[in-house]
Amino acid sequence: MTPKTFKIKSFGCQMNVYDGERISELLGEHGLAAAADGEDADLVVLNTCHIREKAAEKAYSDIGRLKREDGSKPLIALAGCVAQAEGAEAKTRSPMIDMVVGPQAYHRLPEMIAQASRGARPVDTDMPAISKFDALPKRRAAAPSAFLTVQEGCDKFCTYCVVPYTRGAEISRPWGDIVAEAQALVEGGAREIVLLGQNVNAWEHEGRGLADLIRAIAKIDGLERIRYTTSHPADMNDELIAAHGEVEKLMPYLHLPVQSGSDRILKSMNRSHSTESYLRTMEKMRAARSDIAISGDFIVGFPGETDEDFEATLRILDAVRYAAAYSFKYSARPGTPAAARDDQVPLEVMDQRLRRLHERIGENQLAFNRSTVGRDIQLLIERPGRRSGQMIGRSPWLQSVHVETGAAPGTMLDVTLTAAGPNSMTGALRQKDAA
Ligand code: 5AD
Ligand code: SF4
Repeated sequence: MTPKTFKIKSFGCQMNVYDGERISELLGEHGLAAAADGEDADLVVLNTCHIREKAAEKAYSDIGRLKREDGSKPLIALAGCVAQAEGAEAKTRSPMIDMVVGPQAYHRLPEMIAQASRGARPVDTDMPAISKFDALPKRRAAAPSAFLTVQEGCDKFCTYCVVPYTRGAEISRPWGDIVAEAQALVEGGAREIVLLGQNVNAWEHEGRGLADLIRAIAKIDGLERIRYTTSHPADMNDELIAAHGEVEKLMPYLHLPVQSGSDRILKSMNRSHSTESYLRTMEKMRAARSDIAISGDFIVGFPGETDEDFEATLRILDAVRYAAAYSFKYSARPGTPAAARDDQVPLEVMDQRLRRLHERIGENQLAFNRSTVGRDIQLLIERPGRRSGQMIGRSPWLQSVHVETGAAPGTMLDVTLTAAGPNSMTGALRQKDAA
């Protein structure tokens, strides 16, 4: 049966969210309609994440839940990084899967759906050199804050990470395509653009780098804000740092994962930066833009991590004064060098370290949020809050700010930050010409 309605479930990183949006546009173009909330869809696309074991397992438990009470099921497409990593094996693991499509091949979905409707079970995990982006429809409606993938893949091969295997080698999209897409997003309603890439600051095209791209996009009328994520410390060059001091639309926020505060561990992670080089980059960033908010990622329990290594991680956390940070228990991923090591850290030790790190991150976040109370900011309204009459927006430092207002998503408001919590802020509207 040819499907008429679809549902896409995206897990994992923002790149998957972006891919989910593009798949949705593509299916729309081919005559399928998004199923309404709570309604059964004829086709379900699971856009999966393989970064940690838990995320990968989720894909399969979700598939099980798609069986309907009468025993029937929708057409199921396994997409994203689990699809890339497992390929045809996924079909053996779950007979409910009709299609397997990797992150570089999803432009072929319409064709695959036609095949699956005739009873075939197609698999496409090719990583073609020609860009899937060329085969996708033009962007139309966009959220106030819109994602734009500019770079995919990774050549860094950190020893714990599956990304170089699931997303392939580093590829930068061409300059002109990105600028055109940014323009279309702004025409479609975006006020903020978040440039995405696994190594976004490694973006490079015909001798130009991310800083040049940011400066070009900043010229688009109607665009208020630019962000980018995720950056690698080794690619944090002086031009990009300088842009933070010069491009007004570039928000004072940088996500720069350090992973560990121990040089010994960083070395065995193959991170190609040291704590010293990382802290030097921080200093330069703060010299260029004194109010920059820094966020990061941390892994606890990498093989061989001692108590001492972990204490060093707590020290770098406090030294950087992170505005936000994400922490993960090390998860051994098939095919990665670290997974084969015989000095894996026991789960209880990882749990304990994660708890302590989490607590310290919370303290850092609260301290940062408190330091912004009283500041007058511009708030980009994104969505309704839980209470009626309340909306949620983002501050320049990416804080979620609750404010009493009837303003629609996409509005920029003058707001004073009035109170801080560990995960969000409260703001009050500012009378523009008062006093
Ligand atoms: N185990 C735990 N965390 C991981 N990350 C990447 N690979 C692993 C893994 N095998 C974390 C890193 C990265 C973030 C996206 O996920 O901190 O920055
Ligand atoms: Fe993974 Fe390291 Fe590449 Fe980031 S830089 S995607 S952690 S291999």
